[in-house]
Amino acid sequence: MTTKILSFNEISDKRGQLVSLESGINVPFEIKRVYYIYDVPKAQRRGFHAHRKLEQLAICVKGSCTFLLDNGKKRSTELLDSPSKGLLIKGHIWREMYDFSEDCVLMILASELYDENDYIRDYQLFVESQK
Ligand code: TYD
Repeated sequence: MTTKILSFNEISDKRGQLVSLESGINVPFEIKRVYYIYDVPKAQRRGFHAHRKLEQLAICVKGSCTFLLDNGKKRSTELLDSPSKGLLIKGHIWREMYDFSEDCVLMILASELYDENDYIRDYQLFVESQK
C-alpha cells in the first residue's frame, strides 16, 4: 500500500513548538495546493474517493481524525492525532475520514492543483481500476 506515516521534527523551546514543511526535504513532492477541513460534525464521514495521480500529505494540525485506507485488496486505518505526524498517500488509494474531534483541523498538502478529473468517486470503478 502506498501510504506512509511521516514523523516531523519538532523545534521546541520554552516559547512553544514549531514544525516546518518543505518541498523535497520532508515533503516528498512539490506542494502545489494546501487545503484544510474543520468544523466537521460528529459522526460525519468524508472522502469516499481515490485519486489517479495526486500525492497528498495529511496532517491534523489540531485535534484528531482517523483515515480508512483501502488499496482495493486490503483496508487499514490510521489515527492522526499530532501536528508532528503526517500521512502520505500516493497512488490509487481509496480513503475515508471519520471520527473528527470537535476541534480537528485537518490540513492536506497536495502535489497538484484541484482537478475533478483526477478523482475516482465510485468504489466499484476504483476496485476495477486496481485489477
Ligand atoms: P470533497 O472532495 O467532497 O471533500 P472531501 O474529500 O473532504 O469529502 O470536496 C468538497 C468540495 O470542495 C467539492 O465541491 C470540491 C471542492 N474542492 C475545491 O474546490 N478545491 C479543493 O482543493 C478541494 C479539495 C475541494
